[in-house]
Amino acid sequence: MDKTTEFINSMICKQKFGDEKMEIYAKEHYVPIVRKDTANLLRILVSAVKPKNILEIGTAIGYSGKIMLQAYKLAHLTTLEIDYDRLQLAKSNLSRFHKRIDFHLCDAGDYLLNCDKKFDFVFLDGAKAQYLSYLPSIMNVLNDGAMFVADNVLQDGMTAGEVPTKHKLESTIDRMHKFLDMICKSKNLQTTILPIGDGVSISIFNSNIS
Ligand SMILES: C[S@@+](CC[C@H](N)C(=O)[O-])C[C@H]1O[C@@H](n2cnc3c(N)ncnc32)[C@H](O)[C@@H]1O
Repeated sequence: MDKTTEFINSMICKQKFGDEKMEIYAKEHYVPIVRKDTANLLRILVSAVKPKNILEIGTAIGYSGKIMLQAYKLAHLTTLEIDYDRLQLAKSNLSRFHKRIDFHLCDAGDYLLNCDKKFDFVFLDGAKAQYLSYLPSIMNVLNDGAMFVADNVLQDGMTAGEVPTKHKLESTIDRMHKFLDMICKSKNLQTTILPIGDGVSISIFNSNIS
C-alpha cells in the first residue's frame, strides 16, 4: 500500500460504521470484499444518488450490500451470489435488512440474461473475467440516469501495465481492457475510472443518446 493510500485509509477509518466484524471475518476466511477506500466511495455514491433499486453482482458475505443499504434507507437491494455458504452468511449478516433485500443464489450471467427489472444503481463485483460478457445484459437493466459501478478494474496494477500480468490472469486482464474500452467508448455511458482501492469505474447511463 503506498503512503497516500495509507494516509487516506487512516483518515476514513475515523468514521465508524460497525462493519469491523465482517471485515475481520473476511480477512480470516479469505473472502474477497471491497477495500476500505472503495467501501467509503460506495457509501458516498449511494448517499448521493439515492437509488430506489440497487443490483449487486457478487454478494459474498454481505459487506458491500450492508454499506449500500445503510447509505440510503429507502434503497431496495437485489443481490446475486453463486456460493451457497457465502449467501447463507450474507443472509445472517444482513438479517435486519431482510425486508429490503432479494437474495438470489444463482449464476449472475444467467440471472442477467433473464432479468426483466431495471435498476437505478448497479454494483458489479463478481468474477472479473466475466465483466465483459455481462456488459450487454447490464446495459439492458439500467434505468435512464442510473449509475453503474465496477470494482477491481485495475487488477493490482496489471490492467495499466504498471505490474507484469501474472500468466494465469492474462485472459482476465485482456477482457478487462476490452470491458473498459467498451464502457469508455459507449455513447450511452459517461465513464470515469478512479485509482481507488483496486480501481473503480463509474458510469452514468443515458438511453437517449444512440
Ligand atoms: C469480490 S466478491 C464480492 C464481494 C462483495 N461485493 C463485498 O464487497 O462485500 C465476488 C463474489 O462473486 C461471487 N461470484 C463469482 N462468480 C459468480 C457468478 N458467476 N455468479 C454469481 N456470483 C459469483 C463469488 O462467489 C464471490 O463471493
